[in-house]
Amino acid sequence: MSTVAIYPGTFDPLTNGHVDIIARGARLFDRIIVAVLVNAEKSPLFTMTERLEIARAVFKGLPNVEVDTFDGLLVDYVERRGAQVIVRGLRAVSDFEFEFQMALMNRRLNDKIETVFMMPAEQYSYISSRLIKEVFSLGGRVHGLVPDMVEQRLRDKVAPAAQTRS
Ligand SMILES: Nc1ncnc2c1ncn2[C@@H]1O[C@H](COP(=O)(O)OP(=O)(O)OP(=O)(O)O)[C@@H](O)[C@H]1O
Ligand SMILES: [Mg+2]
Repeated sequence: MSTVAIYPGTFDPLTNGHVDIIARGARLFDRIIVAVLVNAEKSPLFTMTERLEIARAVFKGLPNVEVDTFDGLLVDYVERRGAQVIVRGLRAVSDFEFEFQMALMNRRLNDKIETVFMMPAEQYSYISSRLIKEVFSLGGRVHGLVPDMVEQRLRDKVAPAAQTRS
């Protein structure tokens, strides 16, 4: 039997922290599906089309990484895709409480699905999409923290006045 994992998130935008977790997942599982959430609560900077395009371009060299989109209950999507595992990244203690709640709720909803937590490389352990957008929009450098394609797309989106130091 092959093990398929789902890595759900907003990926607005994809960071090198996400890329690190996905690369680790691709070594651990037969297949990993990056599932971009259609999130009604957050209003995203990058459209769904852009987020899918970026992730597909970044992982085109890894044949066991698939990029998809999902809406609704995660455990239903996991089952629909024939997957057994939900992958989540853990940065600091601050991620723990929310992730713990989600993992146990998902287990209650479907106890055949396991949540697996993975730690990123140290140099990415403090990055979030929100922080990247904030720093970039204030003119700070994000080089090395996001894929080059994301850096380019951020430049295209954010007003030139904010880019004096990037
Ligand atoms: N730098 C990172 N290292 C390890 N895991 C990460 C990192 N950034 C995000 N993750 C994990 O990736 C998954 C998807 O998260 P999400 O799409 O919310 O990214 P995010 O960077 O936290 O974005 P936002 O700032 O919008 O919340 C979550 O499990 C999250 O904990
Ligand atoms: Mg987050």
